[in-house]
Amino acid sequence: MTKYAGGALIPSLRVERDQPASLSMQLATKLRDLILSGQLPPGTRLPATRILAREHGVSRTTAVTVYEQLVSEGMIVSRVGAGTFVSDEVKPLAPPPEPKAPTTPPPIADLSRDAADQFFPRLEHPRTPRPFVTGMPAFDAFPMALWAHMSARYWRSPRAEIMSYPEATGLPVLREAIARHLGANRGLLCRPEEVFIFAGAQDAFLQIAQILLEPGDPVWMENPGAIGARNALLARGVRLVPVPVDAHGIDVAAGRDAEPAFRAAFVTPAHQHPLGMPMSRDRRFDLLAEADRADAWIIEDDYVGEFHYGRASLPPLKALDTSGRVIYVGTFSKALFPAVRLGYAVVPEALTDTFERILGASAHGVSHAIQSIVAQFIDEGKFSAHIRRMRSLYRDRRDALMEAGSRHLQGLVEVQNTETGFHTIGLLPPGLDDRQAAEAASRENLATAPLSRFALSPIAANGLTLGFSATPPVEITRGVERLARALRSVPR
Ligand SMILES: Cc1ncc(COP(=O)(O)O)c(C=O)c1O
Repeated sequence: MTKYAGGALIPSLRVERDQPASLSMQLATKLRDLILSGQLPPGTRLPATRILAREHGVSRTTAVTVYEQLVSEGMIVSRVGAGTFVSDEVKPLAPPPEPKAPTTPPPIADLSRDAADQFFPRLEHPRTPRPFVTGMPAFDAFPMALWAHMSARYWRSPRAEIMSYPEATGLPVLREAIARHLGANRGLLCRPEEVFIFAGAQDAFLQIAQILLEPGDPVWMENPGAIGARNALLARGVRLVPVPVDAHGIDVAAGRDAEPAFRAAFVTPAHQHPLGMPMSRDRRFDLLAEADRADAWIIEDDYVGEFHYGRASLPPLKALDTSGRVIYVGTFSKALFPAVRLGYAVVPEALTDTFERILGASAHGVSHAIQSIVAQFIDEGKFSAHIRRMRSLYRDRRDALMEAGSRHLQGLVEVQNTETGFHTIGLLPPGLDDRQAAEAASRENLATAPLSRFALSPIAANGLTLGFSATPPVEITRGVERLARALRSVPR
């Protein structure tokens, strides 16, 4: 196995000029020790003699003598045209250093208040597209050849254009492309200066909370609600006020009863996370009016706003906002893929200078390459074509779930239909514990999550999330059969 194509860097290999031993002897001894101790394992490529000589201030002849000595000892081998390697035959005398035993975490008093907080629920990001996984786009349908072609084109651009720090608030071409995309596809008119680029929606939530909220501020949070956003708000130390969700979205009246003086509200109007229904038009206006009354911000998470399967979805809250209260957050994790780590916020006009100043003061930011490639993807019409194709693919996958559910899940779980998003939910009969149901499903290699996982305080809904976007219909159907088996095994 070749390790380090250019030859290992060996900083610990030093020669002492005032030693009686010759330089070649010193180098050979040290290299031998490194090989025998396992620090240069079998197969490691060593630097060429020319490089060894330059890096250690010895003559080329000395370097050649060192390698000849070690070859004669069987420690290293030279392969013509390939280089010099630690011999595969060498058995290190000492085993490679053991991984360090886990150290005891520092006492709580030594941590920041945020780090000491035990409440953060773990954010479990799925890595493989198992049946019912939520929030994951169809990897199998992504136009990877096109993406690779555009990436290669990007890396052939003039170096001065692509190798420096990108603007901390986002590449202007991407901010412009997003503003155009939102106007054409989400009915949201904004100027590029109102668009700020982040490393995903989660990063946007963190920065927004940092800029707009104080520790202790009361913040309405949908209950059940999104875990990533919850963690970002908790990291700022705000006081989360759980507000129940009904068939129309966040229950504004219940929120007013719980905390009329709220400072901000976090909502997912396009597809309530995790229950899946869109916020009704009336509820959108109620929420905007209530935020006006309380002089509060609204953080709108439009994570799957592009994906609707029936009539066009309602415009985002931000498009209805006449008093500059809504901070709209979008992501490319769903419409492209999560590994791009690219999201954005559209902020009210009155906040653009503040965001520009605060974000511009740090070197945070997203890879120039990703921003530039995505901007071109949008500008060349590839993004809207991809979304259109994915809408139809996800509709088929949703239909496969509904169809298989009606055949195999009757009496076990009531699969709700959805006209938007990447997942729906299945309601479990009373008495069937959603955590136990999710564990049974996991034993069948199914990635459902219990709704109770998303709850800030006890909720009425008892059920499981059922993602349909990530796997082809045939796998969804097989998954439904396994889910039926799993649910039958749960004691009631
Ligand atoms: C509710 C919600 N909003 C936003 C996101 C996107 O987050 P990010 O852009 O950081 O991947 C997710 C990801 O799963 C999510 O579940």
